[in-house]
Amino acid sequence: MSISTTKTDATMPRRFEHQFKSAQPGPIHMQSEEKVNFDDVSKTYPSAGSAAGSTVAIKSLNIAIKKAEVVSILGPTGCGKSTAMNMIAGFEFPSSGRVLLDGKSILSPGPDRAVVFQQAALFPWLTVLENVVFGVKCRGISPDIYLKRAEILLNAVKLKGFERHYPYQLSGGMQQRVQIARALISEPEVLLMDEPFGALDSQTRLMMQELLLELWVQYQPTIIFITHDVAEAIFVSDRILLMSSRPGKVKLAVSVDEVKPRGQEFLASAKFVDLQANLLTALRQEVH
Ligand SMILES: Nc1ncnc2c1ncn2[C@@H]1O[C@H](COP(=O)(O)OP(=O)(O)OP(=O)(O)O)[C@@H](O)[C@H]1O
Ligand SMILES: [Mg+2]
Repeated sequence: MSISTTKTDATMPRRFEHQFKSAQPGPIHMQSEEKVNFDDVSKTYPSAGSAAGSTVAIKSLNIAIKKAEVVSILGPTGCGKSTAMNMIAGFEFPSSGRVLLDGKSILSPGPDRAVVFQQAALFPWLTVLENVVFGVKCRGISPDIYLKRAEILLNAVKLKGFERHYPYQLSGGMQQRVQIARALISEPEVLLMDEPFGALDSQTRLMMQELLLELWVQYQPTIIFITHDVAEAIFVSDRILLMSSRPGKVKLAVSVDEVKPRGQEFLASAKFVDLQANLLTALRQEVH
């Protein structure tokens, strides 16, 4: 896959109709306003029956994520990463504290947020195009608008020509790209990705990471990306939050000061290698 080196000005109009056509060279201006906030959030899951068996998944979590920022969450299994993401999605709610989107408490799921899961959960009886447009069609958006967006997005995720294929006719990586196009078609302001490339082979995974950064350059959503892979976190993120073992808190926050999109050469740079060594050491301490 060729890597675009085009940079986009953050003030560019957000509509797909313009985004994918009018990318212009120039610096990326990160907007500093906050998009998502965890304000002293704790989450306890009750056990079935007795309070003694309840699970404290997250305790006193404070995170501020800026608009258009790409933030990865790393941490040992069971530390509450998916729980935190589900609270942003509006699938789960804090036991105490507040999770805020644009300064307002999140009370339900909404089209301003889209979730990409580890396994592409596509409807097997629908074609690629039908899967991509299913959500927007149900919301009553005009076909003129959603079909044009679908065409632009399927092109961006390199699936042009596969519109009439069914999921069983696609590879795992292609299915995952359908899921990403489906998540982006509603123009979500926040893209939530829970180990989205975990099931892919390393080559497809790298291609997907590059594609994600290309899409970010063109569209600039806020992205929250959960992964167990330190290299993946460094490659895609502006900032990495390393969580402690359960109950999860932010143990370490690391900024990745490298312009996006990033190419393979970044993987071999001294900056990348140093970050990777530091994060691996911190993660190992947490796991042990
Ligand atoms: N619906 C639930 N009911 C009860 N306990 C839950 C529920 N969901 C998660 N938990 C518990 O909360 C803790 C955190 O789970 P979570 O899925 O957020 O972890 P995670 O960091 O995403 O882990 P992994 O890296 O394995 O995906 C775990 O101990 C888990 O057993
Ligand atoms: Mg999880």
